[in-house]
Amino acid sequence: MKLFDVYPLNDIVIEKAIGSYVWDDKGEKYLDLYGGHAVISIGHTHPHYVKRIEKQLHRVGFYSNSVKIPLQAEFAEKLGKISGKEDYQLFLCNSGAEANENAIKLASFYNGRKKVIAFKKGFHGRTSLAVAATDNPNIVAPVNETDNIIFLPFNDEGALTDAFTQNDISSVIVEGIQGIGGINVATDSFLQKIRSLCNEYNSVFIADSVQCGYGRSGKFYSHDFAGVDADIYSMAKGMGNGFPVGAISIAPKIQPKHFMLGTTFGGNHLACAAALAVLEVIKKNDLINNAKEVGGYLKDELQKLPNIVEVRGKGLMIGVQLPEELKMVKNNLLFKHKIFTGEAKPNVIRLLPALNITKTEADIFLQAIKTELG
Ligand SMILES: Cc1ncc(COP(=O)(O)O)c(C=O)c1O
Repeated sequence: MKLFDVYPLNDIVIEKAIGSYVWDDKGEKYLDLYGGHAVISIGHTHPHYVKRIEKQLHRVGFYSNSVKIPLQAEFAEKLGKISGKEDYQLFLCNSGAEANENAIKLASFYNGRKKVIAFKKGFHGRTSLAVAATDNPNIVAPVNETDNIIFLPFNDEGALTDAFTQNDISSVIVEGIQGIGGINVATDSFLQKIRSLCNEYNSVFIADSVQCGYGRSGKFYSHDFAGVDADIYSMAKGMGNGFPVGAISIAPKIQPKHFMLGTTFGGNHLACAAALAVLEVIKKNDLINNAKEVGGYLKDELQKLPNIVEVRGKGLMIGVQLPEELKMVKNNLLFKHKIFTGEAKPNVIRLLPALNITKTEADIFLQAIKTELG
């Protein structure tokens, strides 16, 4: 059987990974500023992470959500504390799309409405509702198409206010920093406007924190910069440092009913062990602060370089927009300088490294991009 060919692949096989470095099958070492797409939060094969998962695997790897799983409650307590949302409730699932799917659905259960506001250049995943709320017609199959999603321009408060006048909006889903859309930061006043309109119309504010959350921006949720609380935060990627874990954190005003949500694998013992290990390392090593400091340093230094159109982002979620004639830089970083980075259209290099990247590692990248930019 052949693999279903859905991605253009780099001809590289990764065989070993430690911290912010990976090695291929020929022994070549690469600096990883991509983090396997914002997934590696505490560094590859972190010893505490490996030990906690291994220990759990020897006790119990999985049992269903029909029994109590104390690891879930322990994780919920730690997540509530570190995110500053101790009165919120946790529902665990397996991926970012699933988290957003559950968030949009829960909002609709809550207020009985159907319309969802999403934004141009937003990305929320590939399951049915999540992909319908994603601004990319190429990945929306006919069966996913729905009139329930209203796409508005990002950061446009006027368009947002107008869309609410029908009083039929169930929820607004918004990334604090658009990732796949090219690292576009939501303004504080835009997020505050979403909050006030959702209050006025009893709509649900969904903060998609799958990529920009979990400390990456220099705050736990990037939406926190605006000083407002969302009603539901969706998260995944950095949560499990590679183990598939997703979740939604739900405000107390949204009350559960049995069977309104459910999952077979979500919150299983191994997933909880992975997620707990990640939170423990983030807290112990003050990684949110490190994201702010090393991210700030990277951004400042990048802004001094020639031939860059714009540097955007917060913390360790940085986009470097290059002119069209420098579109080979990303490939050169990978194949000449052995540095993994991400990309976004048109011609944006995305930096999504582990939150414990050091200044020395940041300097290796800065030196490489300097030589590329001339
Ligand atoms: C902002 C955002 N939301 C949702 C998703 C979907 O997450 P997953 O691929 O885990 O389903 C992604 C994935 O890139 C994302 O960047």
